[in-house]
Amino acid sequence: MKKFLLAELILSLMVMAAQAAPSFKSRQADLPPDAAAFPDGPNVKVASQNCLACHSADMVLDQPLLPRATWAAEVTKMRNVYKAPISDADAALIVDYLTARHGPN
Ligand code: HEC
Repeated sequence: MKKFLLAELILSLMVMAAQAAPSFKSRQADLPPDAAAFPDGPNVKVASQNCLACHSADMVLDQPLLPRATWAAEVTKMRNVYKAPISDADAALIVDYLTARHGPN
């Protein structure tokens, strides 16, 4: 029992020592370009101003084509969960935009 604990202690000290001095190297990475902007359409400016502060347009455009109620719930989630500062009026316009540009119709 004691031996086991000692071995465990030594092992965790070794792991800590290995992690103690991280050395970061700078490296150039060729990442695929993000879709930086929303496709044009009515209210695209409102959507761009309110939805691109925290993540790229890809976060939205990579979603399946979703119906209005789902987009409305998603915008509400951004406001309530992630504290996106979006007014009621803008939220309604954004839901219009998303439904028109990324909805099933
Ligand atoms: C205050 C920051 C913020 C703003 C502004 C914001 N989002 Fe997000 N959004 C997030 C975070 C954080 C996530 C989760 C990221 C992750 O899971 O990696 C997210 C994820 C998403 C996702 C992926 C699905 C999900 O629910 O995780 C969608 C779609 C999305 N946001 C749409 C929008 C739309 C549309 C707007 C504009 C109305 C918006 N976001 C504005 C922070 C924000």
